[in-house]
Amino acid sequence: MTTEQQQGTRMRAAVAYRFGGPEAVRVEQRPMPTPRADELLVRVHASTVSIADHRMRSRDLPEGLGFLVPISLGVFRPRKPVLGMDVAGVVVAVGDEVTGFAPGDEVIAMLGSTFGGHAEYARIPQSKAIARKPAGLDMQQSVALVFGGHTALAFLDRAEVGPGDEVLVNGASGAVGTAAVQLAKQRGARVTAVCGTRNVELVRSLGADRVIDYTSDDFTQNGETYDAILDCVGNAPFDRVADSIKPGGALLLVVTSLRGMLRASRDSRRSGKLVTASGAPVSHERFAELSRLADSGALRPVIDRTYDLDDVVEAHRHVDTGHKTGSVVLHIA
Ligand SMILES: NC(=O)c1ccc[n+]([C@@H]2O[C@H](COP(=O)([O-])OP(=O)(O)OC[C@H]3O[C@@H](n4cnc5c(N)ncnc54)[C@H](OP(=O)(O)O)[C@@H]3O)[C@@H](O)[C@H]2O)c1
Repeated sequence: MTTEQQQGTRMRAAVAYRFGGPEAVRVEQRPMPTPRADELLVRVHASTVSIADHRMRSRDLPEGLGFLVPISLGVFRPRKPVLGMDVAGVVVAVGDEVTGFAPGDEVIAMLGSTFGGHAEYARIPQSKAIARKPAGLDMQQSVALVFGGHTALAFLDRAEVGPGDEVLVNGASGAVGTAAVQLAKQRGARVTAVCGTRNVELVRSLGADRVIDYTSDDFTQNGETYDAILDCVGNAPFDRVADSIKPGGALLLVVTSLRGMLRASRDSRRSGKLVTASGAPVSHERFAELSRLADSGALRPVIDRTYDLDDVVEAHRHVDTGHKTGSVVLHIA
């Protein structure tokens, strides 16, 4: 820590005090957070600029979900000025009620809607998904597992994907998709991945058994059926893909419209297939699976680009294209 930080006063953080384009974000000095009794204080080495940061900053939500803006994002300005849903870093302090982690531990964590990862220090409630960092990966590689890995774990667990299952991952080249392909393979599933032409080889290298290029083929029109379809794009509502799901199978809507959310339980009841827009809870133990798999070589991070904190606006600009591959990492320490 610098002398100033030791005094517990200031840290550098990327902040957005208004909704808008990438230029709404700037780096400035902020007060250092002080952990509460049930919180860890982590010196952040790396975070990612994720699609969630894009959504929070720009208010770009899936169709019909605009009414959530004042509730979840803020009325006149972002409710959480410091974005960043994930971190990799070193624990520097823990509150009295924290167990299982101590200063000096190298950790990864998913802050989720708490945000706050785009800063030199982050306060993390112990209730969040936190685990030891993979020993064999550096901080930037480690953080690239978190956002997509946490989400993919939650949804694959929800459908209890296991050995022999046929799984289709729509949007296999994004942060969630690249993790989902690998995690489904690791469970013994047979994986069909849907991505664009330039990512076909990458996705195959992650273990996909079959790759469908969405620019030339429509996976709903080839007569194939799956035990689970994981939609990470938002263009696979139940009406469109019902015939591609085996009896008793699942449609996992990682992203969907308000209509898709509202109809999920009705579609489930009527079809006998699981249709859901929510994942299973991810405990510390489940989350630690990401580190174990990374250390065994079964899960590898996919990093599109890495930016220094000072270049955070450029990082947002790249994420805004909607065409990143895997994660866009922010180097902070
Ligand atoms: N429910 C939850 O808890 C939760 C959690 C995390 C994320 N999400 C949502 O899940 C979605 C995916 O997140 P992410 O982080 O993976 O996003 P991402 O990394 O930004 O995804 C970008 C990828 O999507 C691919 N893509 C775009 N259009 C496609 C299409 N028609 N077919 C197949 N692939 C396509 C792009 O490939 P090309 O460049 O080739 O087009 C790109 O590689 C987001 O909408 C996010 O909001 C939900």
